[in-house]
Order: sequence, then C-alpha cells, then structure tokens
Amino acid sequence: MSESETEVPIKSLTPRDLAREKPTPEPRSAEDVVFHVEDLVVSYSGKCALRGVTLDIQRNYVTAFIGPSGCGKSTFIRCFNRMNDLIPGATVEGTIDYHGTDLYGPDVDAVEVRKRIGMVFQKPNPFPKSIYDNVAFGPRVLGMTDNLDERVEQALHRAALWDEVGKRLKESALSLSGGQQQRLCIARCIAVEPDVILMDEPASALDPIATTRIEDLMQELKNDYTIVVVTHNMQQAARVADMTAFFSVDVGQDGDRTGVLVEYDTTDKMFTTPSDQRTEDYVTGRFG
Ligand SMILES: Nc1ncnc2c1ncn2[C@@H]1O[C@H](COP(=O)(O)OP(=O)(O)OP(=O)(O)O)[C@@H](O)[C@H]1O
Ligand SMILES: [Mg+2]
Repeated sequence: MSESETEVPIKSLTPRDLAREKPTPEPRSAEDVVFHVEDLVVSYSGKCALRGVTLDIQRNYVTAFIGPSGCGKSTFIRCFNRMNDLIPGATVEGTIDYHGTDLYGPDVDAVEVRKRIGMVFQKPNPFPKSIYDNVAFGPRVLGMTDNLDERVEQALHRAALWDEVGKRLKESALSLSGGQQQRLCIARCIAVEPDVILMDEPASALDPIATTRIEDLMQELKNDYTIVVVTHNMQQAARVADMTAFFSVDVGQDGDRTGVLVEYDTTDKMFTTPSDQRTEDYVTGRFG
C-alpha cells in the first residue's frame, strides 16, 4: 500500500473516530466538583424550556453540551453565571451549587458570580474601544488596576493573541479579524482571573483555521480553568471535551417542547458506546 493510501485526511474522521483516540480523562474526586446541578428547571414566562437536569461539572475539564437546536443548551449554560437573571420572565428552579455554595442563594452577589464565572458568546462582541481597553475593562470595573499593563499582557498571552496584537494595543478591537476578536473576548474574560469560562458556540462564526485555534486554546486553558462549551460541531466536542452532555427535546401530548438531559458521560463513552439510542442516533448523524 502506498503512503498516500494509508493517510487519512483529518476531515474524514468521524466524531466516533476522534473520540476513540482520546485518552481517558484523569479521574476526578468529590473535591473536584465545581458545579453540582440538581433537578434544574428553567422556564420563560411560566413555560418550561428545560426540565429536571442533574449533573456535576468537574474542575479542569472541558465539558461540552450538545443537542439539537432549541433543546436548551444556551438556557442551561446561562444558569451557571446567572445570566438568566437578566432575562425578564426567566425563572430557575432546583439547585446549582458552586463549590458547595448555592449559586442562587439570597446572599450571593450576581456581579461577583460573573467575575468568577466568565462567558464568551457565539458572536465575538468586543467593545468599540482599543484592544488594550477591552482587556483592561473588567479589571478596571473591579478595581484590579495594580500592574494593569502586565495583567493585560498576560491575558493576551494566555488567549494566544499577544504575538498578533502586542504591538498594536492602541488600535481599535474592531480592526481585528473575527477569530482574533473571539480570542480578545477570551482574553477579556481571563483578565479578571475567573475560575470558570463558559462558551456558547464560541467558534461557530469562525473559519476552520480560527476554529482550530480556539479549540487549541481550550485545551491549553483547561489546565488553569474549568471550561463549559456549547457546540453544534460534533467533531469539536469529540476533540476538545473530556465530558459531554447530550440534550434533546421532549414533545408532550399538548405539543409543548421541553429540553431534557438524555445522557452525560465521558466524551469517549458518549461518542463510541452511548447508553441511550437517542444519543447514538445524534452522534452518528441520524438525527438532529
Ligand atoms: N429569552 C427567551 N425568552 C423566551 N424563550 C426563550 C428565550 N431563550 C430561549 N427560549 C426558549 O427556550 C428553548 C430553548 O432555547 P435555547 O436557546 O436554550 O436552545 P439551544 O439549545 O441553545 O438552541 P440553539 O442550538 O438553536 O442555540 C426554546 O424553545 C427557546 O424558544
Ligand atoms: Mg443556543
């Protein structure tokens, strides 16, 4: 067989192939639970969008949420930094413990929560300010202004952007490419030294090269942070995630659609030998 016949182009690898190659994630113990979610229900104006979710998110793992459109992935990820508080009519029932403290408890300050638990959105959303001021924004708001230049530089290094922007910090963030803007948003998030980074489809607006950079970055960042990512891209989940949660939509007799958690396990298991037929159908592309 010639060499070219033995080469498998990366693009032809299925999520299942990719998951098979994954090393088993390092085991975690009870102290490594960052979020404990118990029987979570989220409704909008009384209409249930997501029901009965119970799972744990582990420290220094990348955890992926996958599932068809409308199954509640964004709704769920927004619960982890209380972003749903900002949506009129949204209610959250059940519990989310964050390092053992009720995230929705009466004494918890939602601003402090969003400092510890940062979020990166689908569409890069830099402020119409300089690159420097974007990264310095959070630290300034929170009074973390000692050694601000150093803090900005370090965040840009960690977001794998410094080499590209280190010499043009005063330029507008809007002059950057989409992929650079997304890494800038990650740097802005990192600059306040969060514990967790939530990402809702962070690469879906980016080209394949920019997407690969974001995926590489996630692998790098998980050494220091706990990462939760929503993605529609099965290959991406198979490549980057240690754990994967598959959500689906239950259609009731009245036609009401509610998001449910179908299965949650190591990414390797989810993509190769899932327990639920619905997961099997979704990860093999037969549904969704
Ligand atoms: N702000 C909102 N107000 C009212 N209903 C909402 C709101 N956000 C989401 N929903 C509803 O909640 C359900 C879940 O939506 P959500 O955006 O969480 O799904 P998703 O899995 O992120 O979908 P997608 O893959 O398309 O992003 C949908 O029925 C949606 O219409
Ligand atoms: Mg969404």
